[in-house]
Order: sequence, then C-alpha cells, then structure tokens
Amino acid sequence: DKGGWSSFMAKEINEQPEAVANTVRGRIEGDHVVIPELEALGDDVLRGIDRIIIIACGTASYAGQVGAYAIEQWARIPVEVQLSHEFRYRDPVLSDRTMVISVSQSGETMDTLMAVKYAIERGVKTVSVCNTQSATIPRESDAAVYTHAGPEVAVASTKAFIAQITALYLIGLHLGRVRETLAPEDSAAAVAQFETLPEKVREAVETHDQIAQLAHWMADTRSVLFLGRHVGYPIALEGALKLKEIAYIHAEGFAAGELKHGPIALIDHGQPVFVLVPSPRTAPLMHSKIVSNIQEIRARGARVIAVVEKGDTSVLPYADDVIRLPLADALFEPLLQVVPLQWFALELSTAKGLDVDQPRNLAKSVTVE
Ligand code: BG6
Repeated sequence: DKGGWSSFMAKEINEQPEAVANTVRGRIEGDHVVIPELEALGDDVLRGIDRIIIIACGTASYAGQVGAYAIEQWARIPVEVQLSHEFRYRDPVLSDRTMVISVSQSGETMDTLMAVKYAIERGVKTVSVCNTQSATIPRESDAAVYTHAGPEVAVASTKAFIAQITALYLIGLHLGRVRETLAPEDSAAAVAQFETLPEKVREAVETHDQIAQLAHWMADTRSVLFLGRHVGYPIALEGALKLKEIAYIHAEGFAAGELKHGPIALIDHGQPVFVLVPSPRTAPLMHSKIVSNIQEIRARGARVIAVVEKGDTSVLPYADDVIRLPLADALFEPLLQVVPLQWFALELSTAKGLDVDQPRNLAKSVTVE
C-alpha cells in the first residue's frame, strides 16, 4: 500500500526520519551506544580486531563507504570497503583479528552472501547489517545488527540506505567505547546528533517542492555530475547511482579533489553539477576547497546546484540553485544531503514518464551471482 503516495519510493523517502529513529532506538544508554548483538561477541574479541572490511553491493556499498569514515574516526581501526563480488577473487589478506561487516537491505544478495561464506570459511568474525529479519546473511553471520527501516518495496533503495549509515555509525560508536578510543565527550556529541537527526531528516524531506521544480526545468538533461569530499564523496556516488537506476540518465559522482585530475574536462556550457558543500562551521578547510571547486566549474560554464547548510551564503555568487539543509556535525551531513538527491532522481524519472518503483532491467534483490 503506497499510503496515498504516487510511488513506493516517494513513500519510503518520506519514512526516513522514522527509519533513523527506529534504528537508533534501544541502542543508547545515557551518553553511550550499546548494541546487545555486538556485546554478545565479547569485548575481548572487539578489542582484538585490527582491521575491518565492509562488503556490499550497490547503494549498500555507498552506505559502507560513509560508515567507514566514522568507524575509523571513532574506533581507530583501519576500515576498507570492497564490493562483495570482488572480495574473494583478490585472495584477501584475512586473519582471526579481521572483522567483515556485510551490508545488505535484503540479506539475500547472492554476491554478498558468497563473500560472507568465504569470510566464515577463512575464520573471520562476521557482522551483518541487514534490514530483513532472519534473512540468510544475518543467519549465517556471527552477529546481526538490524536496521529497522521497515519493508522497502521500491527497487531504488532510500530509507534502507539511511538506516544502514545509522547502523554503521552505531557500530563505530560501540567499538570506540569498548576499545576506549572514543572520548566520552565525542560519544555524548554523537548521541546528541542522533537525538535531533530524525527532525532534521524531516526538514531535508521537505526540500521536495524545490527539487521538483528543478527536475521539471531539467527534464531534458542527458548527463549530471555530482561532487563531494570526505563523507560527501560516497553521497555523490549514490546521487549518481539513483539517477542511473530510475531516470536512465548518465551520471557520475566524483571526489571533488579529483576534479582537476581529469573530470573537469567534462565541464562544458550548461553541464549540471550537484556539489555537496560541507559545513563551514565544522569543516572550514574542506568547505573552502569545495567553494574553489565551485568557482572553477562555474568559470567553465557549469550549471551549479549547491547543497549547503542553512546560513552558508559563501556559494551564492557562484551557484544557479541552492538547496539548504539543517545544521549537523560533519559526519552527520550525509544523512541529510542524500535526501534531495533521492527526490531529484525520483522527479526526473517521473518527468520522463518512467516507472519509478520498477526500473527496467533491475530487481530489488539479486539472488544470482
Ligand atoms: C541491487 C539493487 O541489485 O542490489 C540495489 O538494485 C541494491 O538497489 C543492491 O542497493 C544491494 O542490495 P541489498 O539487498 O544487498 O542491499
């Protein structure tokens, strides 16, 4: 039941505040994150981990990339992200101190399941971040940290993505506490961010009307680029994937710093570029670098759509459109920035008369390798 929405995807974008709140619920004690399913693995095991590999496909892999920054920052463990279907072919270096965290909405993606089985055979601890109770991947894994986004019907993942980032952040905070790498004030600050996040995600959802206008004007667009830095980089990749999946538009995401090493050659008059601008308050250095990137592409004729935090006026002289989001700490901005990009893909798909929920050639869960 679409509950009055024009598509499941629209309904699911709108359900994102609850997806975050429900995933956090029951996992906070005072100023700390406590995940019972990780506690069950034993603190000694968690203290002994010296490397984390996140495995996933598609949107889930971008959630993994965002999560990797936070886990490294809070738990001081090197984290890498590998696509599930690449994992075993590289003969990965694994030990009994490696932890593999799989991320999968369905818990049935065959590529990811095979990678998890491979890790288990090699004696690695496996944790599953999954949205579907009792799916195969969480059942096979040593621990399951469920996302509580509720059933996701649209093929293009939205609320599950936000819930996956949330769960990975909670895992990072839990590991940081147990390993004593997370300062109590940083733990308290992150917990405070989670408390206000659903309300902010709601505000991000309310960018819909502005984005719908934008998509309406851009209905003939044939290519869109996305730029981001740090945690904004995987969001740029996710924004591009969404457009490919449901609007069948060529789109690419780039790390903003990479621009001058190649992609800037693509910038031509009228080329639309979404730029995810980090907060000037919490990430001043990254902010100033991104503003220079905006100036560079604007000088070459790009049509700049800047996604900024409210009150950031620095981009106004160079941006054709400005999308404003509520203030959040740097690591929490991706959970807001992705929302207008989801709406943009949905609205362009709709403007082209396509089936938003059932894009051609794609399945919600791919159960073959
Ligand atoms: C793809 C879906 O086939 O699988 C994507 O079309 C999804 O939307 C990806 O992100 C991974 O799926 P899952 O269920 O493992 O998260």
